Amino acid sequence: MKRPVAARWETSINRQLANAMGFRRMDQFSLQTFHEVCRQIDFRTPLVGLLGEFQRGAIADVDRLQETLAVETHLGVLAEAWDSVLPGFPACPWKRRTLTWEYHRGARDAYLKQLIADIVPANVGPRRLIVNPAAVFGRHARALAKSLPEFDVIGSDIEPKWNRLYQFVNFWRYHNLTNYQFVQEDIFNPDARRLPATIAFWGACGSVTDGCIDCAIATNTPFLICRSCCHDNIGGNTHVVRRPGALNRFFVLKNRLLLKEQLQQTGAYFCNRYGKSAYPRSQAARDLVSSDTLIAVAQNSVDSDICRSLIDLDRCLYLQEHGYDVVYREELFFAHKRDLNGGCRHTTGPRRPCCE
Ligand SMILES: C[S@@+](CC[C@H](N)C(=O)[O-])C[C@H]1O[C@@H](n2cnc3c(N)ncnc32)[C@H](O)[C@@H]1O
Repeated sequence: MKRPVAARWETSINRQLANAMGFRRMDQFSLQTFHEVCRQIDFRTPLVGLLGEFQRGAIADVDRLQETLAVETHLGVLAEAWDSVLPGFPACPWKRRTLTWEYHRGARDAYLKQLIADIVPANVGPRRLIVNPAAVFGRHARALAKSLPEFDVIGSDIEPKWNRLYQFVNFWRYHNLTNYQFVQEDIFNPDARRLPATIAFWGACGSVTDGCIDCAIATNTPFLICRSCCHDNIGGNTHVVRRPGALNRFFVLKNRLLLKEQLQQTGAYFCNRYGKSAYPRSQAARDLVSSDTLIAVAQNSVDSDICRSLIDLDRCLYLQEHGYDVVYREELFFAHKRDLNGGCRHTTGPRRPCCE
């Protein structure tokens, strides 16, 4: 799809802006450069910009031109920052948020695994454990265990049956994998005695992502490398604003089934601690947006890049407030703890204990 001239123009503006800020494409990962670049990243400005777009109604328009333009305008600098510290991002050729776009996330999942394998071993201290919450089948965790034999890898999920099924079907592929273990665990009540080098996940629905983030903070985990998903389910929300399109219908149906599961009180997906009032997560976003507005954003997020990004930008600010430096691009987060031995230096929001 040829991008509109205005969108290309905006992108070139962002490139100039990024150059002015000194972001250059990376050759090799350096933790020091990562932290230097992160010190210049401002998540508040794009949050304010996208909030304005949401309030103006520039979301999920029929031809998506407004939305594409808005996302490129407000998030272009963040994409450049990502590219300046991490290797080639697998940009999806499919620009609109559709079922096909969702299908293409496989490339980004493979990319995240490669980042972990390439960067973590050389950049962590003595910790030798990688934890993958919401692991479902445990396929990503097993793949990591295979490529990083010097690490122990735990795949955890509240529901163990999919991991068992995968183990059965792939017995010959993984039967001698000794450094992988599955643990049945509710991420809202994780084992805080475990001290991972990295918490990684590939799509943790709604508040499950926030549970994983808090688990990383509580365990002082150096790296958090992950992809968020199902932003509509933050704060216990299951309502989706109806719009035409298969993706929208799919999520409406998914939430009907999810709601059923919630009503059965399995403990999956939702937790009282992560109800509506727990959003926005960051103090910085709390100064700008109310819980009601953020839940309205979530209800519109299924087919809107603006809305998904808004929820994730709040998470980036929250990570910054809790001692992490972070780069963010299209639902992927790459975060590293700033000051692993001492206290946390906050760049935004009030100083508060961050490693409780
Ligand atoms: C959308 S799936 C994650 C996708 C997956 N990572 C993948 O790409 O293969 C969501 C998973 O989160 C798990 N889950 C839901 N609530 C949870 C909780 N409270 N603690 C841990 N896992 C949870 C579900 O059991 C489900 O397997």
